Amino acid sequence: MRILVTGGAGFIGSTLVDRLLADGHEVAAVDDLSGGDRGNLVRAAESPLFALHVMDIRDPALIGLAAEWRPEVVCHLAAQISVRKSVADPVHDARLNVEGTASVLQAAHHGGTRKVVFASSVAVYGRPAVIPVPGGAATDPRSPYAASKLSAETYLATFKALHGIDYTTLVLSNVYGPRQSPDGEAGVVAIFTDALLNGTPTVVYGAGDQTRDYIFVDDVVDGFARACGTEGGGGRFNLGTGVQTTDRRLHSLVAEAAGVADEPGEAPTRLGDLPAMAVDPAPALEGIGWRPQTELAVGLKSTVDWARSRLASL
Ligand SMILES: NC(=O)c1ccc[n+]([C@@H]2O[C@H](COP(=O)([O-])OP(=O)(O)OC[C@H]3O[C@@H](n4cnc5c(N)ncnc54)[C@H](O)[C@@H]3O)[C@@H](O)[C@H]2O)c1
Repeated sequence: MRILVTGGAGFIGSTLVDRLLADGHEVAAVDDLSGGDRGNLVRAAESPLFALHVMDIRDPALIGLAAEWRPEVVCHLAAQISVRKSVADPVHDARLNVEGTASVLQAAHHGGTRKVVFASSVAVYGRPAVIPVPGGAATDPRSPYAASKLSAETYLATFKALHGIDYTTLVLSNVYGPRQSPDGEAGVVAIFTDALLNGTPTVVYGAGDQTRDYIFVDDVVDGFARACGTEGGGGRFNLGTGVQTTDRRLHSLVAEAAGVADEPGEAPTRLGDLPAMAVDPAPALEGIGWRPQTELAVGLKSTVDWARSRLASL
C-alpha cells in the first residue's frame, strides 16, 4: 500500500521507512530536516518505491501532495519532541504538535486516507499512580509537550467522527536504538553510548534509581507496521516492555555493551524529573498483535555497534 510517513528522516521515522519498504510498501517521507537527517534515508533512497519531500507539515502544499499521491495510511511522527523545550516555549510546541497534526489530518482527508497512525508519548500519563501504566489509564498532562500530544490524540478522534478517517494511537515509552541523536534529552541510551565510546564523562542523577521503560526502535516500528493494517482501529496502545530499568543499571548495561569501565559521575537529582515509568504493553497484543521482542542487552549491543561504526566513519 501507499504510506506517508511524517518525520520520516528522524530516528524512529527513518527506521519505520526502512521497515515499510522491506515489507513491499510504497513510501513517501515528509520531513523539514529540522531534527532529522537525510543520512538516515541513504538505504531508503536506493529504492524506486521511496520519495522524500522536504517540507514543513504545516505547509499548505502538504494537502496538494496528499491529494495527488493519495496515501492509504499516514504514519504521523513529525513533532517537537522535547519536554524541556515545550516548557520553555509552549507556543512553538503547540504550533508543531497541534497545528501540525491538524494540518496532517486535513491532508489525510484530502488524500482519501483510510487510517492515520500517531506517535504519542507516555508523557501524557504525568505521574502515574500505577506502574506499569495500564492501557486505559487516565491521562494527566503535566507539560506543554504532554498537552500537545494529548490534543493531537483528540484531533484524531475528531477527524474520525467528521470524515471517517480511522486511526490508531501508539503511546511510546523511551525508545532507543541506532540513529538516535545523543543531543536530545529523551535519548539517554544515545547519550551514554556516545560518551562512553568517546571516553567523555557520564553522570547519573541522584541515587541513579530513577526508572524508565526502554523499548528498542525495531520493536516500535513493528507496532507501526502492524497498526497500518485494519486492526486496532480507534485504539490506543502502549508500546513499551512493562519493565523498569534504573539509570544506574542502564549505565552498566551500556558500559558492558561498549566494553568500557562502568564508572559514572554523580549529580544532584534534577527538579521535576519523574521518579519512575513503565507501561503495560498487554493491550497491544490483543489490539494489533504486537509484543516487545528485543531484550534490552541485545538492543543495546546493536545500538553500541551502530554508534561505533558511525564514529569510525567520521
Ligand atoms: N524517541 C522517543 O523516545 C519517543 C518517545 C515518545 C514519543 N516519541 C515521538 O515519536 C516521534 C518521533 O520521535 P523521534 O525520537 O524519532 O524524534 P526525531 O527528532 O528524530 O524525529 C522527528 C522528525 O520530525 C521532523 N520534524 C519536526 N518538525 C517538523 C515539521 N514542522 N515539519 C516536518 N518535519 C518535522 C524532524 O526533522 C525529525 O526528522 C515524535 O512524534 C515523538 O514525539 C518519541
